[in-house]
Amino acid sequence: MAKIKTKWICLNCGYETTGYLGKCPDCGEWGSLTEEKLQKNDNKKGLTVNINFKSEPQLLKNIEIDDAMRFSTGLSEFDRVLGGGLVRGSLVLIGGDPGIGKSTLVLQSSGNIAKKGIKVLYASAEESARQIKLRANRLNVDSENLYIYAETNLDEIQTNINNIKPDVVIIDSIQAVYNSGLTSSPGSVSQVRECCNILMNIAKTCGITVIVVGHVTKDGMIAGPKVLEHMVDTVLYFEGERYKSYRLIRTIKNRFGSTNDVGVFNMEDDGLVEVTNPSELFLAERCESITPGSVVIATSEGTRPLLVEIQALVGPTSYASPRRVATGIEYNRVLQILAVLEKRVGLNLSKHDVYINVVGGINIQEPAADLGVALAVATCARNVIVDPETVIIGEIGLSGEIRSVRQLELRINEAAKLGFKKAIVPKASLPLKNSPKEIKIIGVSRLIEAIASSIPVKEMQNEF
Ligand code: TYD
Ligand code: MG
Repeated sequence: MAKIKTKWICLNCGYETTGYLGKCPDCGEWGSLTEEKLQKNDNKKGLTVNINFKSEPQLLKNIEIDDAMRFSTGLSEFDRVLGGGLVRGSLVLIGGDPGIGKSTLVLQSSGNIAKKGIKVLYASAEESARQIKLRANRLNVDSENLYIYAETNLDEIQTNINNIKPDVVIIDSIQAVYNSGLTSSPGSVSQVRECCNILMNIAKTCGITVIVVGHVTKDGMIAGPKVLEHMVDTVLYFEGERYKSYRLIRTIKNRFGSTNDVGVFNMEDDGLVEVTNPSELFLAERCESITPGSVVIATSEGTRPLLVEIQALVGPTSYASPRRVATGIEYNRVLQILAVLEKRVGLNLSKHDVYINVVGGINIQEPAADLGVALAVATCARNVIVDPETVIIGEIGLSGEIRSVRQLELRINEAAKLGFKKAIVPKASLPLKNSPKEIKIIGVSRLIEAIASSIPVKEMQNEF
């Protein structure tokens, strides 16, 4: 019997070594090395799919692309995050928490794709064919061109790809399939990496589109080495709150489109339904009587503007050092905004706890939300309200200046569509070429100015 070797693999960068190390010498991450037992089998089957992939150098002008390079998944929100549809021969990775709806999404899209006469092979390593059939009935998925295959062995899946010759292959999930060439268990770093490698080969050499479902770890990363994300063409994260029915799908990486785009779905009894106007959804629960500390901002992650509510709660602390809690926005960003408020506006928060919440479970990454956060904190601390029909847009610099943001026009248009009457925006981004008439645009260049324009004058004089 062959000797079983052990190796240690870095979860972050995939670095391999024969012994344990506390710190990965390659990427510098601490405690990221995991032990794996492996033994190479010689019975590995080769890839025998027809290869129509030209590997000689070609002149750029001679390379042909046709419209058929992309095809729709039948779900416009999914197409949006993919950059306009699935690209032939690409490898897409969809990550998300268990039960969030990854299998539902891929099954629904495979049904839609198959209906157009494109052959789809849905390989499920987690559910039996019957379970999938039950789900498909519920989702009204039915097509001549959709093959369901419950199998965990990737070699078998490859053989069937050879037989069926599908245009799209779905692997649900990468952590549950294994390659018999390796003895480590399914889901281990080397299995996940090897399987992904094989799938990438299939995608690139045969022009088959491969969609891979991946689980995420406790920290919210796709389980397996970070290199997995480098290998694939597109990385999407499916997220949402467990107790809410809507789901967000977000682009993390896309070789064929913009990143940071979000698609919004609602999980209903018969599957995922697209939400075409998500701002309405995010503002739906906004109270009629607005309380201090509630502000609406217009964020634009990717190509679409989204209106979301930011809430702040500021109150006297009972701890030695005050608490700062941020949900849906980066913690350090909040600390920086608080520091600017303290220094440039004179708002003393050293004896106050500050809680910030982005309503709707959405995670805001862009700095254009800064001004909204600052106004939410300032108004809550002084117990005044921001005019409920005002939308706030702008990035804050350390000297209290308001910096320009991109896609301002798009954001203002979205706000006007939802009935907002006033927009406080960075002066540096003005003037706009064509902005809607129904909304009054106020350009500000300092934080104090922005506070003054959003709060009724009488209250301002007393408080700041
Ligand atoms: P699933 O796609 O199995 O999640 P994942 O593959 O990410 O683990 O989704 C399971 C959840 O979705 C489950 O809690 C039930 C819910 N669901 C609906 O609400 N409606 C539906 O039509 C379907 C198929 C699932
Ligand atoms: Mg699943």
